[in-house]
Amino acid sequence: MTDRLQLIRTLDQNKKPRHIAIIMDGNGRWAKERGKERVYGHQHGVQSVRNAIEGCGEAGIDFLTLYAFSTENWNRPKEEVNALTSLLVKTIHLELDNLMRNNVRLTAIGALTDLPEDCQEELRGAINHTAENSGLTATLALSYSGRWEITNMVRKIANKLAKGSLSQEDINNDLVTGNLSTSGMPDPDILIRTGGNFRISNFLLWQIAYAELFFTPTQWPDFNKDELWQIILDFVDRERRFGKTGEQVANHQ
Ligand code: IPE
Ligand code: IPE
Ligand code: MG
Repeated sequence: MTDRLQLIRTLDQNKKPRHIAIIMDGNGRWAKERGKERVYGHQHGVQSVRNAIEGCGEAGIDFLTLYAFSTENWNRPKEEVNALTSLLVKTIHLELDNLMRNNVRLTAIGALTDLPEDCQEELRGAINHTAENSGLTATLALSYSGRWEITNMVRKIANKLAKGSLSQEDINNDLVTGNLSTSGMPDPDILIRTGGNFRISNFLLWQIAYAELFFTPTQWPDFNKDELWQIILDFVDRERRFGKTGEQVANHQ
């Protein structure tokens, strides 16, 4: 076991992050740097997904949410979109045993019905198959964007208002949170973006209100467990104040 993992295992449960979200960026550039097509980078990114899932499991994290395909990614060239959805089908198929072995529960958020039928089927199969696993919950964000999700939430609440099952006074923080696709999950404590850019690109806009942000120049295919564990250790050293003063936090007020 590496030193970093050992350190994480000795941490107080309430100091550890419960939910890590990752914007997996940089596959295309990683491939270009090697004189290859962008798809080559996506193929190599699969290994990093496996590492992130295993690495979170080993560190005792409860939730990992991976941004795999955004609403806006539909605007990429058709060949790349097709390559990404085929890779998804193939990967879920190949990784199912691994997920079972590691006690991982797979879930997905996003406009899933926009995905090709074979993709939806493979995904549904794996979600059902892993539903009873009690370890890490790994969520794939597919055809997902924060604005898509917030728009959906508004629509759901408006519907309930119109039907009279809800009144205006019932609209509060918890109701909004409960009508998002991440309902039932704690907010991410950590948001990581690989690939060297400093932006959110429409990911979990509501949920990251108080997440600690980590931007790394590492391209996604090079992201490994050690870097993940180092981020968890750096997170523990950050003081989260949630609007309070440092003194209040120090005195647990
Ligand atoms: C992230 O890598 C994967 C997806 C968005 C699907 P990119 O494909 O965005 O790679 P870069 O950012 O162009 O290097
Ligand atoms: C964000 O990466 C989306 C995913 C990682 C799935 P993008 O490569 O699409 O983001 P931009 O276009 O650089 O903002
Ligand atoms: Mg990108």
